[in-house]
Amino acid sequence: MGRSIADLGAPIGSGRTAEIYAWESGRALKLFRPDHAHDVEEEHAATRLAGERGAPAPEVFGIEEVEGRPGVVMERVEGESMLALMVRKPWRTRGYSRLLAEMQWDLHQLRATGLRDQKRELRHDIERGVGLSDADRAAVLDLLDRLPAGDRLCHWDFHPDNIIITKRGPVIIDWIQAQAGNPVADFGRTTVLFAAGTMPDHVRAWKRVLLERGRRYCTEVYAARYRQLARPDPRERRDWRTVVCAARLREVGSPEHDRLLALVREQMGTG
Ligand SMILES: Nc1ncnc2c1ncn2[C@@H]1O[C@H](COP(=O)(O)OP(=O)(O)O)[C@@H](O)[C@H]1O
Ligand SMILES: [Mg+2]
Repeated sequence: MGRSIADLGAPIGSGRTAEIYAWESGRALKLFRPDHAHDVEEEHAATRLAGERGAPAPEVFGIEEVEGRPGVVMERVEGESMLALMVRKPWRTRGYSRLLAEMQWDLHQLRATGLRDQKRELRHDIERGVGLSDADRAAVLDLLDRLPAGDRLCHWDFHPDNIIITKRGPVIIDWIQAQAGNPVADFGRTTVLFAAGTMPDHVRAWKRVLLERGRRYCTEVYAARYRQLARPDPRERRDWRTVVCAARLREVGSPEHDRLLALVREQMGTG
């Protein structure tokens, strides 16, 4: 008989897709929630490929099942997330935001053939985007068709809570959505994730203001540094962002959904 979830003890981390438990010999088990179980192979393969190509990803050791739920066994990464450090040591926000851009730029130098194809994923999501008119959907799909494909490593959930600062340097976790694609799209995706950040209700008003300012500052520093490194064409940057917003419509509820929809309509000139 295999072990039960109770045998694993309290989770050492938890997110939207999974809970993370300590595993033997310095490893961790990312145990997927039932509605994300189908992504386990994808995350295992992407994390492995990222590491093999030279990205700072946790080492992976295979797939295990606990109480019928699949999980990825990986190196246990010890440290605090970049986001936690920005909140605890706000004076370091500028340095971390620059580092975030530099790390993403480094990923974008690596080829990722073998991972999911970005344009195919985007098309799939836009076709299912909630709230888009037929005309807008067709226009966005047309825009996507005209944008240049790429074969670079795009993490696609690249934000400061998926970076753990360890004694040996920063490590990128959570490769579940990684793709082979155009870096400018991945950059746009990060700016869209930054813009979303809705805060839980219990956060006090004064703290909200501080966090909100911190987020805006981090976004600006990050985006300026990335643009300085990659020099993306402004038009292409805007078009990818429109496509990324439209694709995210099926991922989120209001109020973010309404903001994204307004943004897409404005960009398509139908707002
Ligand atoms: N390899 C790991 N070692 C240690 N902690 C981890 C590891 N992977 C994830 N965690 C912890 O679990 C949390 C959720 O994991 P993550 O991979 O980001 O899942 P989700 O897809 O649900 O966001 C992380 O924020 C981190 O605190
Ligand atoms: Mg995560």
